[in-house]
Amino acid sequence: MTSPDSALDAQDLENLWMPFTSNRAFKTKPKLLTAAKGIFYTSHDGREILDGTAGLWCVNAGHGREEITQAIAHQAAQMDFAHSFNMGHPLAFQFAERLARITPYDLKRIFLTNSGSESVDTALKIALAYQRVRGQGTKTRLIGRERAYHGVGFGGISVGGIVKNRMWFGPGLPGVDHIRHTHLPEQNRFAKGQPEHGADLADDLERLVQLHDASNIAAVIVEPVMGSTGVLVPPKGYLQRLRALCDKYDILLIFDEVITGFGRLGAGFGADFFGVRPDIICLAKGLTNACVPAGAVAVSNRIYDTFMQMSETPIELFHGYTYSGHPLACAAGIATLDIYENEDLFARAAGIADYWQEAMHSLSDARHVVDIRNIGLIGGIELEPRPGAATARASEVFDRCYDKGVMIRVTGDIIALSPPLIIEKAHIDRIVTTLREALDETA
Ligand SMILES: Cc1ncc(COP(=O)(O)O)c(C=O)c1O
Repeated sequence: MTSPDSALDAQDLENLWMPFTSNRAFKTKPKLLTAAKGIFYTSHDGREILDGTAGLWCVNAGHGREEITQAIAHQAAQMDFAHSFNMGHPLAFQFAERLARITPYDLKRIFLTNSGSESVDTALKIALAYQRVRGQGTKTRLIGRERAYHGVGFGGISVGGIVKNRMWFGPGLPGVDHIRHTHLPEQNRFAKGQPEHGADLADDLERLVQLHDASNIAAVIVEPVMGSTGVLVPPKGYLQRLRALCDKYDILLIFDEVITGFGRLGAGFGADFFGVRPDIICLAKGLTNACVPAGAVAVSNRIYDTFMQMSETPIELFHGYTYSGHPLACAAGIATLDIYENEDLFARAAGIADYWQEAMHSLSDARHVVDIRNIGLIGGIELEPRPGAATARASEVFDRCYDKGVMIRVTGDIIALSPPLIIEKAHIDRIVTTLREALDETA
């Protein structure tokens, strides 16, 4: 077995091509994590690192939850794998039933995947197939949004709107268009919670309807709160307006809730929090507390019933993954949902969200800070980019925080925070103090 120290040997790091990482920079100064419990990681050099990002927006119940690890171990011993193609195993049905108890509105039909990216591609494919099954086969266009992140599949990057994630990989899906993003820094700077200005940006969908005609548009996909692009909170009334337009033009509304699901906003899902009914939601991350890679797509009863009643082929949807409903993921997912329920963690997040908000905004006078945004247990702190060296400043703040024992995340020159929902006030204070120090020390 490789010891933590020998893992630092440059030779040992060579084979792994790391995702979304500057491999060259990482391998000269690696940051390796070797253990995790509660709100803390342990680094390879034995330091405690406060997890200000719940891993990658996913370890909502905190690390090392024994209920989950035991459920996985038990299931691995009982039955390691069974597939779900014209076969099944009870746990997958049980998991779907448990999940459907908490999914909002009538989104009670569950398709299981293995990641957020797969959930997004699955949702887009279901939307296209649905239109065809119900006799609206011309509705093939998919509408995303500028600055959106919907994972890294070809569907996800096509409807996504982050330039770097798209520019290397060819033209993407045909027939995709984008509505405008909602970032209005001049009007909404330092907004607490939902910004006042920008609901009318939803009307940009009308522009695309005029351009393409509604008879050609299958679905619109948005993140209720944009995370990976640097925390963009929807303006008050924006999502409601988008819903109304989708109704007006008979277009499906897909919420990508990969980060907003499972209590991140202090409610089960963004759809609950904002009181807006999507037709499909994409889930992953907090679904299994990240213990086993898993995702899910929750679909309205209406959509599912349409497939069941109108599909002319025995198999209603030609889509699925070898690991859809993997027994270990189902075991982890059920144990995770138990924790959320038993510990009332979504309400807990709601209870501490005001403290979080004030803590985030206490940094408004910190060095380099030009905007702060927050909602639920999410915080975004935007820095003035260093002239001629965009992203360098935030990246240095990241390194400093890590050295001081706090894990943050940066995207461009924006710091994005999303701690586990079990976070205590003292932890929040420590994140803020560490950030202020790191910002002060950074040129
Ligand atoms: C909104 C959103 N959708 C999709 C994804 C992709 O999820 P995954 O990395 O599990 O494929 C992410 C990941 O951060 C996300 O934030």
